[in-house]
Amino acid sequence: MARKIFIAGNWKMNNTVAEAAALVEGLKARAGDVGNVDVAVCPTFTTLASVVAGLAGTPIKVGAQNVHWAASGAYTGEVSAAMLKETGVDYVIIGHSERRQYFGETDETVNQRTKAALAAGLLPIVCVGETLAEREAAKTEEVVKTQTEGGLAGLTAEQAATITVAYEPVWAIGTGKTATPEMAQEVHAFLRGVLAGMFGQAVADQIRIQYGGSMKPSNAAELLAQPDIDGGLIGGASLKADDFFGIVTSA
Ligand code: PGA
Repeated sequence: MARKIFIAGNWKMNNTVAEAAALVEGLKARAGDVGNVDVAVCPTFTTLASVVAGLAGTPIKVGAQNVHWAASGAYTGEVSAAMLKETGVDYVIIGHSERRQYFGETDETVNQRTKAALAAGLLPIVCVGETLAEREAAKTEEVVKTQTEGGLAGLTAEQAATITVAYEPVWAIGTGKTATPEMAQEVHAFLRGVLAGMFGQAVADQIRIQYGGSMKPSNAAELLAQPDIDGGLIGGASLKADDFFGIVTSA
């Protein structure tokens, strides 16, 4: 089953409008190298509109980093799916471990956000992953299964086929410690089994599972060569166009 590789940059809370414009120039200069890879960048809310405009006409798509489940109302600090859609983004990251750790994100709120994103025609990138303590306690599979089943509960098979799951071991994020390709593949294969249990094997075979956590040009090729690793969610290395495209071209 051929799944198209999907490389997404998670800019996190980085880049002013001016800084984003400079990075967009760098990305545009490399846009010819996209090849047969789906590529997206996920800037902050304040830079979405300018990045969408800057990348228009290139194959590089844009995503947001969070979305609220309600259509509108008294949710200070939040942004709705329709508001994101209006800016021209295609994707949205949901349930990143930093949201879970610092902002009280739960599997239930991940599920609500995912459903709202799908209803608005956005393509969710739903993040799961274990902490170091959970891995050391041999709870990795239990944790990612619970997060996946909770986050994707109630989706139709048709909806599920459009989502991306990002496996991001928390201990590998921003630490320089990458899961070995074998360790990552083991969890990705397990996750595909969880997805098959939820939506059937044919749908599970369509869902792209990205790896995230200190992916960089020097380790991307061996990770992406694994049969169940279908792309990457890139933090630090997505902030420089050449590093980001070093990963894209290794795919
Ligand atoms: P990193 O972040 O590539 O800087 O480890 C990945 C992520 O958190 O999405």
